Amino acid sequence: MAEPITVNGTPQPIPDDPRVTLLDFLRHDLGLTGTKKGCDHGQCGACTVIVNGIRINSCLTLAAMHEGDSVTTIEGLGTPDEPSPLQRAFLEHDGFQCGYCTPGQICSATALLQELAENWPSDASEKLEGSIAITSEEIRERMSGNLCRCGAYANIVAAIEEIAAGETA
Ligand code: FES
Ligand code: FES
Repeated sequence: MAEPITVNGTPQPIPDDPRVTLLDFLRHDLGLTGTKKGCDHGQCGACTVIVNGIRINSCLTLAAMHEGDSVTTIEGLGTPDEPSPLQRAFLEHDGFQCGYCTPGQICSATALLQELAENWPSDASEKLEGSIAITSEEIRERMSGNLCRCGAYANIVAAIEEIAAGETA
């Protein structure tokens, strides 16, 4: 018997249909509609979720491939009454307009903070080892897989910079 997939802390049975993407499983089977379908082709980042601590595009992977994995969606990061630090920062910096890309942006940025904490270099990093300087270029490079058709990029970067600076201070 297949191991369940854990979504926001709750074990869920793997769907019977092996063709179901992780994105459709989350949205249609579990009703977690915070995760958005934009392109459905790995181009926009609207469907970003965190699987075992790593951010991925949920439209590009099948639910059946995640037996035993732990998935966190935007609903698992915080609530309107108790937002995560990044969710609060996006609100305070007006890091959205229509909001369609926002769950993916925040899931992506949440994993980004962990990458920085573990000193994973990016193409924008000046060196491959040691601590990574938190710069706007570093954040823009790491968020380049998350598109925003409203063009809220400046405020998105400001929100992430605020939290990243606090976490490394
Ligand atoms: S919907 Fe998955 S990357 Fe666009
Ligand atoms: S806020 Fe509208 S697409 Fe980003």
